[in-house]
Amino acid sequence: MILVTGATGRVGFRLMEQLADARVPATAMVRVEARADGLPTGTRHIVAALDAPPPPEVLREFDRVFLLSSTREEQVELEVFFIDALVVAGHRPRVVKVAADGFQEPDCGVRFMRNHRQIATHLAGTGLPVTFVAPNLYMENLLSAADGIRLEATVFAPAGEGRVGFVAAGDVAAVAVHALTADDEEGEVHVPTGPEALGYADVADRISAVYARQVGYSDVPPGEARASLLAAGMSEWYADGMLELFDWVRHGGCETVTDDVRQATGREARPIEDWLAEARAAFVGRPPNLSPPPF
Ligand SMILES: NC(=O)c1ccc[n+]([C@@H]2O[C@H](COP(=O)([O-])OP(=O)(O)OC[C@H]3O[C@@H](n4cnc5c(N)ncnc54)[C@H](OP(=O)(O)O)[C@@H]3O)[C@@H](O)[C@H]2O)c1
Repeated sequence: MILVTGATGRVGFRLMEQLADARVPATAMVRVEARADGLPTGTRHIVAALDAPPPPEVLREFDRVFLLSSTREEQVELEVFFIDALVVAGHRPRVVKVAADGFQEPDCGVRFMRNHRQIATHLAGTGLPVTFVAPNLYMENLLSAADGIRLEATVFAPAGEGRVGFVAAGDVAAVAVHALTADDEEGEVHVPTGPEALGYADVADRISAVYARQVGYSDVPPGEARASLLAAGMSEWYADGMLELFDWVRHGGCETVTDDVRQATGREARPIEDWLAEARAAFVGRPPNLSPPPF
C-alpha cells in the first residue's frame, strides 16, 4: 500500500488520479478532513500532517511513501519530522521524495534546492530506501504570468536569456507512479523535464502561436521582480528564493532536458503547446480595450 503526502497539490492530485486509473491501491494523507472533498472520487484518505504524523501502527500499513511538501521556509523541518516518524515506525518503507533538479549539484545555492539537499542528507543518514523525483520547473508556474499575458500581452520574468526544460505537472506525477510501483528503484534519481529547453521569449512565441495573439517577453530587473513578489503577498524568504532561482535560470541551471518521462512511462513528455491549449482559459482573457459585448 502506498501513502501519498501532498495529495491535494499540483503533482499529488494528478498522482492520485493516475494511481486510481492504474488500479494501484493508495491512500492520500490530508491535513484536514474537508481537503479530502477535492480528491479524485473514491480515494482512500487519512487525516494527518507532516508535523502531526499518523501513529506508528498506521504508518506500518504503508510500504511505499510519496513525500512532497510545499516550498516554504519550514520545509526541511516538516519533512525531517515526518521521516523520523517513519524511522520510529520501524518497518523501513521506501520513500519516493519529490525534490527539484539542482538539489543534487553542490554548487546550486538556490535555497529551494538547498532545502531538498538537506532533506536528502537526512534521509541518507536514516538508511531508509529512497527514490528521488527531481523535476525541472513546472509548466504550471507559467500560470503566475497569466495576468501579464492577458492584460499586457507580455510575459514578465527576470529570466534574461536563460532557458528552462519546463515539464507538465502531470508528467511529474506519471514518473512518480513509475517510481512508486516499479521494482529496482532504490537509489534512482529521476529528473522529469519537458521535451525541450525554452527561453521566455520562446515561451512568448509559443503562446502567440497557440492563442493566435501576439505576446512579447519583458526581462524584468531582479529588484523590480522582488518588489512585485512582495506586493503579491509572498514572504521575503520566498521572494529572495525566487530571485536565486531566476539567477540560476539566467546562468543555464534549468536548461536540463532528459528523456526520463519517456523512460518511466513509455511515452514522450508533453510539449508546451499541448499544455497551453489545455490552460487556455487562464491565459486568454478579453482584451482590455475591446468594446463591451452587445448582450
Ligand atoms: N513549482 C515548480 O516548478 C517545482 C519544480 C521542481 C520541484 N518542485 C518541488 O515540488 C514541491 C511542490 O510541489 P507541488 O507544486 O505539487 O505542491 P503544491 O501544489 O504547492 O502542494 C503542496 C502540498 O503539500 C501539502 N502540505 C503543505 N504543508 C503540509 C504539512 N504540514 N503536512 C502535510 N501536507 C502539507 C499541501 O496540503 P494542503 O492542500 O493542505 O495545503 C499540498 O497538498 C516542492 O517541494 C518544490 O520544491 C517544484
